[in-house]
Amino acid sequence: MALIENLTTGQKILKWAVDDKIAVGAFNFSNMETLQAIVEAALETATPVILQVSESAIKYMGIDYVIAMVEAAVHTVDIPIALHLDHGKTSEICKLCIDSGFSSVMIDKSELSFAENVRQTKEVVAYAEKFGVAVEGELGILAGVEDDVRAAHSLYTDPVQAAEFVEATGISSLAIAIGTSHGLNKGKTAHLDIGRLKEIKQKVGDFPLVLHGASSVYPDITEICNQYGAVFKDASGISDSDIRDAISHGINKINIDTDLRMAFVAGLRQSLHQAPESADIRFHLKSAKLFTKNLAIKKINLFK
Ligand code: G3H
Ligand code: 13P
Ligand code: ZN
Repeated sequence: MALIENLTTGQKILKWAVDDKIAVGAFNFSNMETLQAIVEAALETATPVILQVSESAIKYMGIDYVIAMVEAAVHTVDIPIALHLDHGKTSEICKLCIDSGFSSVMIDKSELSFAENVRQTKEVVAYAEKFGVAVEGELGILAGVEDDVRAAHSLYTDPVQAAEFVEATGISSLAIAIGTSHGLNKGKTAHLDIGRLKEIKQKVGDFPLVLHGASSVYPDITEICNQYGAVFKDASGISDSDIRDAISHGINKINIDTDLRMAFVAGLRQSLHQAPESADIRFHLKSAKLFTKNLAIKKINLFK
């Protein structure tokens, strides 16, 4: 099947990021409001973005809804937007997304041996190539919660293996592990191994590198959530200055999910608290959407 009308390929957006030496924001969505918030942020800043869904987000919404909502969201926009599968765990889900009109997929076999990761990633690349769809691979392991799977320890990406992996698989971008982790508890001392990033960059040249688990977990947002009933304990993320550092050393795609979720929760909780008499869910979701949109705008500006 052809790409969803008016979607841009992952390769084109990555090329723009590499040429401009910036990072494209890759934002996860889970429902209509979060999708609209991201697209509105892209429009307001006139900046390309990557919309992404995890396997569990697809399970939650249903693939037909994902496609229909993205079609509706992008059909009139005049800025490049891609649709990406985040952390595809099997070739079947990657193929389903490609067949459904996505313009980019990730095959995440990072928990396997190097040889097996290469073999299974190559298989997805071979399929995606026929449709001009981009493929992201991953080498190294991030700690934290990711699609209901918890990795207790991280395993940082080896620079020599990174270059071999890129060469052997034919992928369009590579996710690397340099100290980030998924979720809202990244640890107070979370710190990026910029030295390793520099070494990886030296080995892979201009090739697009991806940073997962990059949410900053802003204290002001956490505070609003907790003020209105959330119990987000020990919430901490990656500082904005570390993110800027990572971009200046060659990160070209940055995945954000947790910060958007927390902004959504903050907006929703605040509205429910401030207007307890209202059962108009559109009213409450409007606030959640506005918080999410503002967060996405903040990220887009940070990544430029
Ligand atoms: O990388 C992980 C993302 O945050 C996806 O999380 O599977 O709960 O949607 P999720
Ligand atoms: P965060 O949990 O830090 O937002 O990371 C999201 C991510 O990497 C999605 O692939
Ligand atoms: Zn991730």
